[in-house]
Amino acid sequence: MTPQITIIAAVARNGAIGRKGDLLFHISDDLRRFKAITLGKPVIMGRKTFESFPNGALPGRRNIVITRNSSYRAPGVETASSLEEALELVANSAEAMVIGGGEIYSQAFPLAGLLRLTLIDAEVADADTFMPPVDEKTWVVKEQSAPFTDPRSGVTYCFVDYERRR
Ligand SMILES: NC(=O)c1ccc[n+]([C@@H]2O[C@H](COP(=O)([O-])OP(=O)(O)OC[C@H]3O[C@@H](n4cnc5c(N)ncnc54)[C@H](OP(=O)(O)O)[C@@H]3O)[C@@H](O)[C@H]2O)c1
Repeated sequence: MTPQITIIAAVARNGAIGRKGDLLFHISDDLRRFKAITLGKPVIMGRKTFESFPNGALPGRRNIVITRNSSYRAPGVETASSLEEALELVANSAEAMVIGGGEIYSQAFPLAGLLRLTLIDAEVADADTFMPPVDEKTWVVKEQSAPFTDPRSGVTYCFVDYERRR
């Protein structure tokens, strides 16, 4: 079985996803949704994203960390030396969740069938990490939520799923 490859990301204007090794916004509702969507599925991430987690490996999910460092070890994670190797490790799963960051999104974009995005309506001038643009020739909106406002930061966001056009 080959897993469906799904990218999940929270994206501000211009594809911005990170700054100084952290997320741009910590929207509780979005973090809850991320957990609900990924729970029970393998999550594949770059080493820098893994190291940005405050509590290490994400519970209830197989954590696969991609690194060029063959001696890299961390509790609760499996390591892979490339995205392809990470995908081989989860070959028996129905769906593999690619959870970032920028380097890994870029490599996974051509392989993904589904993008589950949180689109945040905010310009972040000092963002330093980005994901590739969602080209409408390649992707079609499958589902879109109404807009919500985060009570803490005041930003408006919505959830949009894009499917690869056949
Ligand atoms: N908004 C969101 O949804 C979201 C989600 C996730 C992360 N982020 C943000 O994104 C930022 C991190 O992203 P990033 O692009 O800097 O780093 P990243 O993609 O998380 O990790 C990069 C690391 O992955 C490894 N790697 C990448 N390509 C590889 C390959 N082909 N083969 C082997 N190893 C490879 C390397 O690890 P080694 O250096 O160990 O070799 C590289 O340094 C943070 O700010 C984070 O908060 C945002």
